[in-house]
Amino acid sequence: MPQEKKRGSEKMWGGRFSETTAASMEAYSESISYDSRLYKYDIAGSKAHAAMLAANGILSDEELHKITTGLSEIEAEIDAGTFTFKVELEDVHMNIEKALIDRIGPAGARLHSGRSRNDQVAVDFKMYLRDQCDFIVELLDGVRAAFVKLARWNLGAAMPGYTHMQRAQPVLISHHMLAYFEMFSRDRGRMKDCRRRLNLSPLGSAAMAGTGLPIDREMTAKALGFESWTRNSMDSSGDRDYALEFLSTCTMIHLHLSRLSEELVLWSTSEFDFVNLPDKFCTGSSIMPQKKNPDIVELMRGKTGRVVGSLMTLITIMKGLPLTYNRDLQEDKEPVFDAADTVSAGLSIIAELLTDLKFKKKRMDEATRIGCMTATDLADYLVLHNVPFREAHAIVGHAVAWCLDHGKELPDLTLEEMAQFSPVIGKDVYEVLSTEGSINSRVSYGGTSLVRVEEAVATAEKELGIQA
Ligand code: ARG
Repeated sequence: MPQEKKRGSEKMWGGRFSETTAASMEAYSESISYDSRLYKYDIAGSKAHAAMLAANGILSDEELHKITTGLSEIEAEIDAGTFTFKVELEDVHMNIEKALIDRIGPAGARLHSGRSRNDQVAVDFKMYLRDQCDFIVELLDGVRAAFVKLARWNLGAAMPGYTHMQRAQPVLISHHMLAYFEMFSRDRGRMKDCRRRLNLSPLGSAAMAGTGLPIDREMTAKALGFESWTRNSMDSSGDRDYALEFLSTCTMIHLHLSRLSEELVLWSTSEFDFVNLPDKFCTGSSIMPQKKNPDIVELMRGKTGRVVGSLMTLITIMKGLPLTYNRDLQEDKEPVFDAADTVSAGLSIIAELLTDLKFKKKRMDEATRIGCMTATDLADYLVLHNVPFREAHAIVGHAVAWCLDHGKELPDLTLEEMAQFSPVIGKDVYEVLSTEGSINSRVSYGGTSLVRVEEAVATAEKELGIQA
């Protein structure tokens, strides 16, 4: 008998190796320091796989029983914090499998039949993402409800609407709140889509070509709550589209959080002075005693960079990757975990902050009465009196210039003063020059009039199942 060469047998894959792994390689390639958080999914996946193997005669009932019990014990130890994850076992999959083999012996060594870590990691990651999608949808609903409540509580109150960050037209505060309701509602739809598309089980694709063992992909897919199973083993092994979709949806959510944060930062300045941010979400300055800084929303604006960065990270990883699985894919997890955590924290904080947000309604209303904000209404008035719109625009432009020169606002002008700009102006003009007149004239569908906004609030409340 030829002398058996000493193999790198301390690894689960060590049979063909004659050297032990370099310590630097081990440290560089491990993922257990972050993928351990997938353990519940990994164990659920293994249980489903084992039950399927038993149903197809690859495991005996006794072996299945040992595997299932062993996995439950390992899970309980991880839950309790008494399980030791080992870096030399690389990742969550091998840590759990090795612990199982150590615990139950040969039956444990049969578990990996007809499976590869490539389909195993994909099934774990998809189950994790499915839960994250559900969790984020729930949080989005909390934020949507907060906006609808703000819209309901502040019905009738006016504020300036802006374009180019210049005062444009008066609107209802509630209308502005419902604009965010729409944004976060679209995000909800995106998360739901993402979940639906990813909810196909990759388990049974094995390394990438499928397996010759008699497996039943339908059985594991159903046991793990998947809608169905993937159609192409090569695609399943190398696909991370679902993670990219999740990250792009997270990015969109955080862009919305960032725009909202920016508005809250602006509105809480002395220059705007539109809102009072709850003290519990602000900090003071260590040197300037008078200051109240809107740190939390500034951080939220800033953290958008992390989420966008996570999306960029995975896009860059995927670009140019040949089919099928490549170890590069291990780099998918940290950006996804970080984005999911960042978005979840942001959504729950903002829902809490919005609940306590107080608008300075008097001040916001006053702001609508400065800067000739009803100029468009005057132009529309002229149009209704048969003046072509372009001509009306010029007439109102002159009137605004006159106001600026004389330190007046449009509603301050007397009829005689109006007459110098157009002969068609009568005293009914004052109805459209006020903030209320302007707002309530905008009855077009989706407009800011009180009737339309009341309808929109009611529709949103109904959609969310909240009582008025
Ligand atoms: N830790 C690995 C990952 O996250 C698991 C899959 C490893 N597969 C392999 N063939 N090396 O991607």
